[in-house]
Amino acid sequence: MRPVRNALRLTLPPIIAILLLAVVAGLAASRAVRAWNTSELTMRARLAGSSARELLVDAESRGDRAQVARVLRDIVRDDRVLAAALCTSDSTPIASTVAFPAIAMRCGATGPRDGGSGELRSLVVLPEDGLAPMHVSWVSLTDTTAQGGRIRLVVAQDYAHVLERERLAGLWALGILGLLTGLIVVLTVLSARMTSSGWLRELNRALRGERVPGVPPSPLLEDVRVLVQRQAAARAALEEGHDGRWTRDRLRQSMADLLEEDGLIIVANREPYIHHRRDDGQVEVRHPASGLVSALEPVMRTCSGVWIAHGSGSADRETCDDHGRLAVPPGEGSYTLRRVWMTDEEESGYYYGFANEGLWPLCHLAYARPVFRASDWAHYRLINERFADAVVAEASVDDPIVLVQDYHFALAPRMIRQRLPRATIITFWHIPFPNAERFGICPWREELLEGLLGSSIVGFHTQGHCNQFLEAVDTFVESRIDRVEQAVVKGGVATLVRPYPISVEWPISALETVPPTDESRREVFAELGLGDDAILGVGVDRLDYTKGLEERIEAVERLLERRPDLIGRFTFVQLAAPSRVRIPRYKEITDAVEDGVRRINERFGTETYRPVILLRQHHEPDRVYRFYRAAHLCYVSSLHDGMNLVSKEFIAARDDEHGVLVLSQFAGAAHELPDALIVNPYDLEEASGALERAVEMTPSEQGERMRAMRAVVAERNVYRWAGRMLLDASQLRQRARRSLQMSSDFESATT
Ligand code: G6P
Repeated sequence: MRPVRNALRLTLPPIIAILLLAVVAGLAASRAVRAWNTSELTMRARLAGSSARELLVDAESRGDRAQVARVLRDIVRDDRVLAAALCTSDSTPIASTVAFPAIAMRCGATGPRDGGSGELRSLVVLPEDGLAPMHVSWVSLTDTTAQGGRIRLVVAQDYAHVLERERLAGLWALGILGLLTGLIVVLTVLSARMTSSGWLRELNRALRGERVPGVPPSPLLEDVRVLVQRQAAARAALEEGHDGRWTRDRLRQSMADLLEEDGLIIVANREPYIHHRRDDGQVEVRHPASGLVSALEPVMRTCSGVWIAHGSGSADRETCDDHGRLAVPPGEGSYTLRRVWMTDEEESGYYYGFANEGLWPLCHLAYARPVFRASDWAHYRLINERFADAVVAEASVDDPIVLVQDYHFALAPRMIRQRLPRATIITFWHIPFPNAERFGICPWREELLEGLLGSSIVGFHTQGHCNQFLEAVDTFVESRIDRVEQAVVKGGVATLVRPYPISVEWPISALETVPPTDESRREVFAELGLGDDAILGVGVDRLDYTKGLEERIEAVERLLERRPDLIGRFTFVQLAAPSRVRIPRYKEITDAVEDGVRRINERFGTETYRPVILLRQHHEPDRVYRFYRAAHLCYVSSLHDGMNLVSKEFIAARDDEHGVLVLSQFAGAAHELPDALIVNPYDLEEASGALERAVEMTPSEQGERMRAMRAVVAERNVYRWAGRMLLDASQLRQRARRSLQMSSDFESATT
């Protein structure tokens, strides 16, 4: 019913207009046909008069009535002529053919003059007393007769055929326009359907918060997407209640209820504190450039427990006990860091090889070819075993909660399950998960999936990645997918698959020691040698080919081409931490970035001005936060990123509620931050346009956007990420405990 109603609403006004037009056109066509036929009849009467004039006048003057009758009969031989008569000027009949209607004589006398000559009068007589409609013409034959008076020929012609033609013309006009109306209606409905189906598809996508890579959405749909996401955020906030925001204390309380005395066990390759011996012999503590670490560290400080990680620092061994343990954070000791050792060869195979030359490019759409070596795979297995053993060593109960982190440990969940069958294992995959076809190129795809399915819960940042994981399991592993529960059931055991978008702590504790915006800006500008009126953009990344660093420099270059007035005023500072430097692809990206910076600086720079400043070294968090505060804009140009926490850190740092975030649509964070300027980093026109927009943005618009983004990040902070995962885990544990209780009750009842 609905489509019909919609089609009617769409087409009714044009139908009414066309129908009115049809009526008017029908009437006009009838009138034209009538006028044309009537004038034809008048002409025929005139012809009859002029051809019979001589004979009739002669016969009449001679009183030869027989001749008059003959001539009149000749005239009515024409099919259309019904009757003819000769009469005097006062309408006294002289002679007529048979059944000459008297009415024709009467009317002829009063008919209108033709052309004002008085030669011819004619009119139409409509049916009367059963007579057919007729056209009567009264034609003057002489000026004077033999008797000294005028004589006239009266010709009555059939008019019914004219009326019939008139009717048909009206009908045809109506019919044709009616047909046209129908055609227009059908075409309108079809074209509306066709246009609307494309539009509706796009609208649906916007409602789901999806974007088509490479296709810029229309501004209207972009607005819809933003609106829907804001509403979803507001709804989520309402559902959790205003006081329901996840905080450090709330997480701590939930953990206390859940874990009683025991803390969490986290398995993550990168350690949160790296002890490093400097060239001067002093040992310093470094915080690694890792989104994973900056998210998990506040969780561990809150929940306490053990973080099992690779001891990778040059002074790590000497700063822990014989079991590789030390209390961290240094001087605070909220939890234990347990270091796991590995040889150079093991690290090469497990970390550089399988994890970062195999899985990393496999999972990121950044056009780097994955490399799969059997020797790397063997080391990967070995190190996963080693971490699983470390979990057993660190567990003080037989059902600990273990958080396994990232692609370094796809096999560990199954290994832990084999060692501690009652453990609750939550595995979180911090990077994108590829679709089944892409994942299928890995020679050990089944083992990886089976390993992950040892978990109680597998988490990803987005629902899209959950779906791709389920698709891969469905394709390569014998199991049942429970679509309602979103779980994989294998051998009677379920693994839940859930999205948990990761975030930063709120408020960020490291910000306590960072000066406010004005002061940070003064310091950073002084360090970079920028004038007071300079405009500063910032980028903070590991030197990784997935981060779009080359594209970022090109976007800045394009900005300066588009806006030469910004040359000398706009500077982009890139904080780039060297990363995975033994891998050739990482060396290549480092060279490419340095080349790009050199090129743009040679092109637009001067002795005192560098458009791009590359700070290629490790930067400690408080320095990074100063740069976030000093900058007018932050550009995150990832070609593919699970979440990207730089975007959220920038927002968290901007308590002045200013600054613009330009964010790649290919970072998971883009799903949550519609108030950023979302761009396709491959599209240099779009990206440089967004940078230009960011430079031009009024303080009030910046404030509006920044407030909206800060509300999202404050709400969806890392305590919520951990809290939601742990609440789901606690439900699973309660269920498992209940069924254990039931089976032991059953056993004691039967023995
Ligand atoms: C990504 C990974 C993390 C990793 C981080 C830094 O964010 O998901 O697991 O810690 O990169 O990389 P790195 O290899 O230095 O630990």
